[in-house]
Amino acid sequence: MNAIREMLRRIGRKDVSILAIVDLGFGDGGKGRYVDWLGEWADVIARGTGGANAGHTIKVGGQTHVFHLLPSGIIWDGHKKINVIGRGVAVDPRTLVQEIAALEQAGLTYNGLRLSHQARLVLPMDIALDQLKEAARGNGAIGTTGRGIGPVYESQVARIGLVVNDLLNPDIFVQKLQRNMQARLGLCRQFDPDLVAEVLGQPALESGLFYDNPANIFNLEAIVEKYRAYTEKFSQAICQTDLLMQQAVGQRKILLEGAQGVLLSIDYGTYPYVTSSDCSLAGLAKGVDLDISQIDYTLGVVKAPYMTRVGHGPFPTELGGRDSAQWCGRKGMTRVREREAHPAASLNSANHFEQGVAIRQAGEEYGATTGRLRRVGWLDLPLLRWAIRYGLHGRGGLALTKPDVLNGCQTIKICTRYHYEGDNYWVGDTLLTPGAFLDTAVMDSYVLEHCAPMYRELPGWSDLRSPEDALAGLIGIIETYCGTTVDVVSIGAERDALVVL
Ligand code: IMP
Repeated sequence: MNAIREMLRRIGRKDVSILAIVDLGFGDGGKGRYVDWLGEWADVIARGTGGANAGHTIKVGGQTHVFHLLPSGIIWDGHKKINVIGRGVAVDPRTLVQEIAALEQAGLTYNGLRLSHQARLVLPMDIALDQLKEAARGNGAIGTTGRGIGPVYESQVARIGLVVNDLLNPDIFVQKLQRNMQARLGLCRQFDPDLVAEVLGQPALESGLFYDNPANIFNLEAIVEKYRAYTEKFSQAICQTDLLMQQAVGQRKILLEGAQGVLLSIDYGTYPYVTSSDCSLAGLAKGVDLDISQIDYTLGVVKAPYMTRVGHGPFPTELGGRDSAQWCGRKGMTRVREREAHPAASLNSANHFEQGVAIRQAGEEYGATTGRLRRVGWLDLPLLRWAIRYGLHGRGGLALTKPDVLNGCQTIKICTRYHYEGDNYWVGDTLLTPGAFLDTAVMDSYVLEHCAPMYRELPGWSDLRSPEDALAGLIGIIETYCGTTVDVVSIGAERDALVVL
């Protein structure tokens, strides 16, 4: 608690009562550990976007917890905290039940869990459609997590979506489910029937329980029955979290937990290679029924000096470029297989692809949700400058994570500008011409795919016993180029491995 007070004192914000944590990259920056850290300070911890596509890993006392839907502050449940899953979250009841069971097994409680009655409800149709559509996209695949996220938000916009509240009203639930299913059957029937049966046969869809036959596809009764059973486990948590949040403002300390990262935001990310919710600060605030202006301070999480991305989409600084993207996208590729294939990969390898493999291994950069290999590249300041706009809105500072992963790496590179190498391309009223330099990323996949990073090189560090000195060069460059202070650095996975600057 002292370190948190110290951070708020140093940034001159002792009076902070609403604090947000937003990832300024492609997710996986290490937000979970900051939510856990600040969870001690907060009375209410609230999540407002994404769904079970997220994977927040927290290491406490030698135990590792991975949360997909539950706010990471649930670890503090025994301390009478309230943990809110807000209206903006897509809730897969099966995952929620599983996570609750894992909590119980770890001897933890969830008495303070509050689930918005207006949160989006993920249906088996969403999960099936997510995977069927991905399979049909072929080379144009997005690399989704297959958790139904895109389709559930699509159905909201198409006005056929369900919300958690429907679980409490069985007749309405059946009516709405039927309507949703009817609207989607035609689409599902366009896919290869064997593939449909295979997708519905997975454990994530109760191993075929929801499958009827090639014509009907979905077994409505089985879905109704199973969703009723899931609901029993968390029905007591469902409430009007909008009222709860309004009452908490000004009375309690509130911590908002972002999901994914600004560069994956449907509105501000590398569209179409994004998730389907708005992971910016504005999206987070809206997802928990607050307004952005109510947030006193935001901690923008930045993995540095390397960054990662899972799934497809532009990544200008990727070590090993296209080879890396292809390698990480290979089906069945695992951490173990990668080690076997590249036993000599080194942090100081002159071969960029191999260096990327070594960083991935050292940083354990394998997806917490899907186990996929995370693509690795150097910190990209043009992207960060963009993300800071929509992640911080001028009301926060940065938290660096994982610099310890590069202990022993002799030379660190940081991308400070892009050299544009595409064709003439209009961006609004500006014509981008080949040879142009960009200090801030243009959030357009064509442009990003045609930007060559320009680097500054820095000497690395062998250990982080005095992080302020070892990381002075890195922090100086980030602060100068981004005009934002670095307020805290994490130098290890455990809860107390944090340094307030
Ligand atoms: P979806 O959210 O499952 O639709 O996936 C869309 C894109 O976002 C894919 O590239 C995913 O790999 C990526 N993505 C979704 N959630 C996360 C996350 O929590 N961390 C990192 N990447 C994510």
